[in-house]
Amino acid sequence: MSLRELIVERTRTRGSLTFAEYMELALYHPELGYYTGAAQQSGRAGDFFTSVDVGPWFGRLLAVQVAEMWAVVDPAGSAAQFDLVEAGAGNGRLARDVLDAALETPAFYGALRLHLVERSAEARRAQATVLAAHGPRVASRGPDLPETIRGVIYANELLDAFPVHRVAMTRDGLREIHVDANGGHLVERLEPVRTACLAEHLDDLDVPMPVGSRAEVNLLALDWIHSAAQRLERGFVILIDYGDRAPRLYGAAGRHGTLTAYRQHTDTTEPADWLDAPGDWDLTSHVDLTSVIACAERHGLRCLGALDQTYFLLGLGAAEIAGGAATRNDRAGLTARLAVKTLLQPGGLGSTLKVLLFGKGVGTPALRGCSQGTRLT
Ligand SMILES: C[S@@+](CC[C@H](N)C(=O)[O-])C[C@H]1O[C@@H](n2cnc3c(N)ncnc32)[C@H](O)[C@@H]1O
Repeated sequence: MSLRELIVERTRTRGSLTFAEYMELALYHPELGYYTGAAQQSGRAGDFFTSVDVGPWFGRLLAVQVAEMWAVVDPAGSAAQFDLVEAGAGNGRLARDVLDAALETPAFYGALRLHLVERSAEARRAQATVLAAHGPRVASRGPDLPETIRGVIYANELLDAFPVHRVAMTRDGLREIHVDANGGHLVERLEPVRTACLAEHLDDLDVPMPVGSRAEVNLLALDWIHSAAQRLERGFVILIDYGDRAPRLYGAAGRHGTLTAYRQHTDTTEPADWLDAPGDWDLTSHVDLTSVIACAERHGLRCLGALDQTYFLLGLGAAEIAGGAATRNDRAGLTARLAVKTLLQPGGLGSTLKVLLFGKGVGTPALRGCSQGTRLT
């Protein structure tokens, strides 16, 4: 039975699904979900590119920020351990790039206890091979955040891969978008809002949605940051995601929502293209940064910066990498220059990806990642 048939069957027995229930099955059904069956979905042979696919430079720059955070959490460099938790770690490529760079500072590298948190069992299996050279540094691999963390939690493109609720503002008020069956096919259906917290959440944001507009609400992102805030004893959180501020997502500018489907490097926002093929497409939506920051601060994290990836990476030395590469005329120099340009590109990865930095029990240190200004375009 295909995932579409399974969902059609489910609507027959239990009625329509909220979009979040549909997206949960489409991405994470235990056998047929998009992320379940493969250790890696991004890259040239996959469906989309992340900053990790560009090469080792993203991880190398992230390592600069993590090393600085290590020095804040443990200034004497005397603690035996520093937890480095990657959430949504995929097959471990980003962690490998970070650890490869950390090797250059032996005391830092020696203190690291790496925890890889990843939902897909297939991706978790691949981590042992990808991180073979750093085996002694890997403290845990599993689907959940460790109970207590003293160090840094980081995630690249995690929250934007969470199942979201979708809402539509009609002349008769707010409606939730459901997925239902029509014959053997899946279609959207507008239903009264029955999901707990959804309408309250939008009311609290106080950004009236214009009639005719649609938007996503990522309640799981709020649960996740709440959980991260609770489990972090002392240290930092770094989140890198497609995202924007609430007024831009829910106000007049965001009329159609940001939900986008990716397959073989084509993207579409038109549900007719992907609704009937759950499991075949990656689905992603922009994270409401305003709500994530507010939720984090309610639960004990302090926001230390919210900025475009461009400025974050420039602060960490991206220009120096490109400058160093510019002095070399060989292929490796050209590759490095192009890679850094791709990571910084305004209108591309550089400005659609936003970075949120949080601290807990560490004061308000001036972080290198924020040294080029905390500009959110
Ligand atoms: C878009 S991919 C990003 C992978 C990797 N971070 C990168 O940058 O290439 C999102 C990853 O998050 C994982 N994921 C989704 N929800 C998760 C959760 N609640 N906890 C841990 N991992 C999760 C997915 O299985 C997938 O591997």
